[in-house]
Amino acid sequence: MAVTVAQLQTWKKEGRAIAVLTATEYAIAKILDAAGVDVILVGDSLAMVALGHKTTLPVTLDEMIHHAKAVGRGVDRALLLVDLPFLSYQCSPEQALHAAGRVLKETNAQGIKVEGGYRDLVNTIAKLVHAGIPVMGHLGLTPQSVHQLGYRPQGKDPKTAEQIFQQAQALAEAGVFAVLLENIPAALGDRITKALTIPTIGIGAGSGCDGQVLVTHDLLGLSDWQPPFARKYVDLRASISKAVEHYCTDVRDRTFPPNSHHP
Ligand code: KIV
Repeated sequence: MAVTVAQLQTWKKEGRAIAVLTATEYAIAKILDAAGVDVILVGDSLAMVALGHKTTLPVTLDEMIHHAKAVGRGVDRALLLVDLPFLSYQCSPEQALHAAGRVLKETNAQGIKVEGGYRDLVNTIAKLVHAGIPVMGHLGLTPQSVHQLGYRPQGKDPKTAEQIFQQAQALAEAGVFAVLLENIPAALGDRITKALTIPTIGIGAGSGCDGQVLVTHDLLGLSDWQPPFARKYVDLRASISKAVEHYCTDVRDRTFPPNSHHP
């Protein structure tokens, strides 16, 4: 059965944790989907992990759609979401509607994600939801604001923790179907999760969240750098290096291809 936005709400009620991963291209997306991931996010972190930029800011809407189309071809079961990139939605509700509409029309995605919880954005989100577009919020450390926030944990003091809590409630009232919480204290993740009826998806936000997300390049050991809260489940960088060195040796030793394969 394909995962839907409604299914995520049911899983929250049932206490069934939601597993979310990012994807940037077809082959990995197909593996993640077949392995049973619930939600696949074409995150704008692809600017860094797939395109080699220093931050997420340079990636364009066209590039996000290009990657999302490829990922979508590999996904049959998981709910597919796409990040709206920096400056594709902040200028006006009309700009956001146009960008989100393009994502839904041009890819197989069922929803989009935007970063932040300030008042203008909450109004924009309400308009997107009104137009029938499922929206996931993103609070705490929001990488599109890296030049203001750095990559530091957020919500550590009572004032900013309260601000994030209030923003989570405002996003829920505006109609987001879920909210991603990044790099905040576990106690705050827990508090938000208990207060909201929509699912919270955490990354560095503690085990109390309704689900967890990782950047797949971190999980696979392919990233140049990974945050302390990420977990490397396999070291593919080492495996790939070894395989490539083996291949180079075989070519230079003329043991690949084998003689028997010559006509
Ligand atoms: O862009 C991204 O990969 C994200 C992560 C926090 C999952 O939003």
